[in-house]
Amino acid sequence: MTPRMEEKINELLEEAYKRGKEAIPSGHVATYIPELGKANPMDLGISICTREFDHFNIGATDKRFTIQSISKIISLAIALDMFGPDKVFERVDMEPSGEAFNSFVDLDTKSNKPMNPMINSGAITVASMLLGHVSLEEATDVIRKICMDDEIFMNRQIFESEMNHLSRNRSIAYLLESKGLITNVEETLELYTAICSLEVTAESLANMGMIFANDGKISRKSDDRIFSKRTTEIVKTIMLTCGMYDRSGRFAVDVGIPTKSGVGGGLISVADNLAGIGIYGPALDDKGNCIAGTPALMYLSRELQLHLFRKDSLLDRLITLKLKAKLI
Ligand code: DON
Repeated sequence: MTPRMEEKINELLEEAYKRGKEAIPSGHVATYIPELGKANPMDLGISICTREFDHFNIGATDKRFTIQSISKIISLAIALDMFGPDKVFERVDMEPSGEAFNSFVDLDTKSNKPMNPMINSGAITVASMLLGHVSLEEATDVIRKICMDDEIFMNRQIFESEMNHLSRNRSIAYLLESKGLITNVEETLELYTAICSLEVTAESLANMGMIFANDGKISRKSDDRIFSKRTTEIVKTIMLTCGMYDRSGRFAVDVGIPTKSGVGGGLISVADNLAGIGIYGPALDDKGNCIAGTPALMYLSRELQLHLFRKDSLLDRLITLKLKAKLI
């Protein structure tokens, strides 16, 4: 990429960061897992990894935080590759819930399986499918590989803090057991919570987003892949329709990039075929999504034309120019 192109992307990133920062005072860090309440709400980091593996970073992009619900897309991808879509969707649906991430109203009253794998009831069901097939160490290795980050470890304080305040997820898990959807409730909850407690950075999430943007392949040029193409297609679609919980519809209209949030403040966005974007900002909106992320991503989406239904992406042109420059 020429210095001018890099400058352009960095300028856009600076403005996105500024817009994100402005939104932070209206947000709050999560406290239902008490240890998460210690995060600095003013922190913000935005990282872009392009399909050519150029990185653009601003702010706290190397700060570690727990992956939380972003792990749901990896557990889902592992389960899809391991058991196939039919088996997975026998146990969990793929419909937006329109309810909070930790709600179990629909599960109790309307449906006999969780609405989708992004809400807690769906993710706990997926974790129960993995139990006995995938250990915490194996799941961690997959996350290290897809994040290109060997420094990913579990944050024990946060894990214990969540395990000691687990009434809501425990209620969900026992309701799932009562409906015959899961067994081994306590072991399932432990695996689910441990995977949520793995620590990543905004930059590692950008790398992960890039691999999903690459249909599961480590690099566009190699055949080495982490997930099958079909699996990444399913995961990206469910990120678009359900990844931001009961804000998914508006987010899809305004930003138009499949994105998944975590209550630790992380966001991962997949600009298909172009780039992964990782954000860290622990101040959350009322739906539990990083509050700085929406204005920052709205701006980047508009300026770089990253919306799923825009075909003339500026980022695409910049990357293609780089390739052409290499050939000359
Ligand atoms: O199960 C929980 O409540 C947390 N470990 C994860 C929830 C979460 O990240 C919601 N996302 N914004």
